[in-house]
Amino acid sequence: MKSTTDFTKMKKLGEKIVMLTAYDHPSAQLAEEAGIDCLLVGDSLGMVVLGYESTAAVTVDDMIHHGKAVRRGAKETFVVVDMPFASYHGSEDRTLESAVRIFQETGANALKLEGGGRVIDTIRLLTETGIPVVAHLGLLPQSAAVAGGYKVQGKTAEAAERLILDAIACEAAGACMIVLECIPYQLAEQVSKAVSIPTIGIGAGAETDGQVLVFHDTVKYGNHHIPKFVEAFADVGTDIRDGLKRYTSAVKTGEFPSEAHRFAMKEEELVTLYG
Ligand code: KIV
Ligand code: NA
Repeated sequence: MKSTTDFTKMKKLGEKIVMLTAYDHPSAQLAEEAGIDCLLVGDSLGMVVLGYESTAAVTVDDMIHHGKAVRRGAKETFVVVDMPFASYHGSEDRTLESAVRIFQETGANALKLEGGGRVIDTIRLLTETGIPVVAHLGLLPQSAAVAGGYKVQGKTAEAAERLILDAIACEAAGACMIVLECIPYQLAEQVSKAVSIPTIGIGAGAETDGQVLVFHDTVKYGNHHIPKFVEAFADVGTDIRDGLKRYTSAVKTGEFPSEAHRFAMKEEELVTLYG
């Protein structure tokens, strides 16, 4: 399994880090087989898999349930689990309680938190506790209700400078990686140069040290909204729909199950059965 040190080495060598979300056992297994460097059990779980309107509905228990499945499916891959909405705000006790539960019960390698500012103290708190932390700057889906939706962040020189300073502060607080979501590529490049820990972009251009995408977007699985910055590399949604249509029609027409799919009793048992 790759470690945070390996990821930092990859950054130095200019070797791209590939991160992908995963929410269950088979997707984690497939991702590991495909050579994904790092898996993220994202709270995008809420929209992508559980059918919620936003990530704000996702609970610590949801993250643990899915985090455990991913860990079991990808034993040799670095797994990051998102701390969900409001689970790292309020008191230090509350934050530590959620973090320790998620970290211990899932067997994750790191936890991810959204935001700069006061969250930077939380990054330090968790790191000092022994929990590696991935920071997340730029568009912060957990704050979308306050920010007024999902918009590209850091477009003005002032906002960009604040984000660079936040990134530097995240590294100083002990963060092992930074996810940069939906920021101009020029800013993502600046941030990547300003810190020595790897930056992982999503909607942040090609200049980051790695990329992350949502599993279901990458393979076109599901009917949720697909953002502009996504490229689909397979179309399993169409394959699944076609397969399920064929299954339906095979049962209706009596083509399935065939003799090949059935079990039989021996002749002498039948005599007894029918009397
Ligand atoms: O929850 C998630 O999927 C994420 C990634 C998009 C970075 O946080
Ligand atoms: Na997330």
